[in-house]
Amino acid sequence: MLKIGLLGAGAIGRIIATALDPQQNREKRIDAQITGICDQDRERAAALSSELSNRPPVVSMEEMIEKCELAVEAAGQGALPAFVPKALEHRRDMLVMSVGGLLGHEEWFRQAAERGCRIYVPSGAIAGLDGIKSASIGKLESAVLTSRKPVAALKGTKFVVERGIAVENFKTETAIFEGTAEEAAKAFPTTSNVAASLRLATDPDIPVQVRVVAVPGGTQNVHEIRVQGEFGCLTVIVQNVPSKQNPRTSQLAAFSAIATLANLTRALRVGT
Ligand SMILES: NC(=O)c1ccc[n+]([C@@H]2O[C@H](COP(=O)([O-])OP(=O)(O)OC[C@H]3O[C@@H](n4cnc5c(N)ncnc54)[C@H](O)[C@@H]3O)[C@@H](O)[C@H]2O)c1
Repeated sequence: MLKIGLLGAGAIGRIIATALDPQQNREKRIDAQITGICDQDRERAAALSSELSNRPPVVSMEEMIEKCELAVEAAGQGALPAFVPKALEHRRDMLVMSVGGLLGHEEWFRQAAERGCRIYVPSGAIAGLDGIKSASIGKLESAVLTSRKPVAALKGTKFVVERGIAVENFKTETAIFEGTAEEAAKAFPTTSNVAASLRLATDPDIPVQVRVVAVPGGTQNVHEIRVQGEFGCLTVIVQNVPSKQNPRTSQLAAFSAIATLANLTRALRVGT
């Protein structure tokens, strides 16, 4: 039974914890158990714990890491500078959802390799990283991500607020950002994880171009990825249903974390 510590009891943390609870998920059992929950909002962590059949203790981040074999981060980019070094110090494997926060921290990957830790980055709200990783074995030419987001999901984001962009007044689809994945991760710390995952899956010499389009009245986060290279061309479009709890989060992102955990506990692994 894989012991899992959870950092973040929000939209994604809740879906993961519920999926791992044998009482609530009898049909698709995963051989893993939450052994500790940490959230800066202790009451939120306690509420989630009370819904789980094994009532995992609400603990500090350090305790959560100590009690587990694999620490799952579903908190936010801001949590990573404390979380990743602590997990490395304890030689724990980790699964990171706030992928944008990994960019620019290549030292963490080096330290993980030195300490024998693994950092798992689930596919999140996109698909196609399997094909892109395979394609990266050969020569890549370009990688472009266009993310169409509902105005409601963009309202209040750092980039929109800082630039004073009145997204709520848009009448038609409008591109509000064009730049590299690294720039997107800084501009949209809460919604650029997809760009960051694409960056990490591709050859570092190939720039990953990102375009963010605001869609008035939109209800889905739609990501279109186009990668070209020696292998040919790959186009993937994912139309995501937003999580009810957090409209900036797609359900598929939480499901991808659960699928990654399931992969770790099963003998048969399908896909690259
Ligand atoms: N990889 C992807 O494709 C993808 C997709 C969607 C969301 N995400 C990311 O996953 C993360 C979680 O998303 P969510 O929708 O569950 O968010 P959420 O806001 O619903 O929940 C986050 C929880 O973490 C807690 N938290 C925040 N900072 C913390 C800290 N430093 N220490 C302890 N607890 C902390 C909050 O109190 C909250 O309960 C976010 O960073 C989000 O951007 C990634």
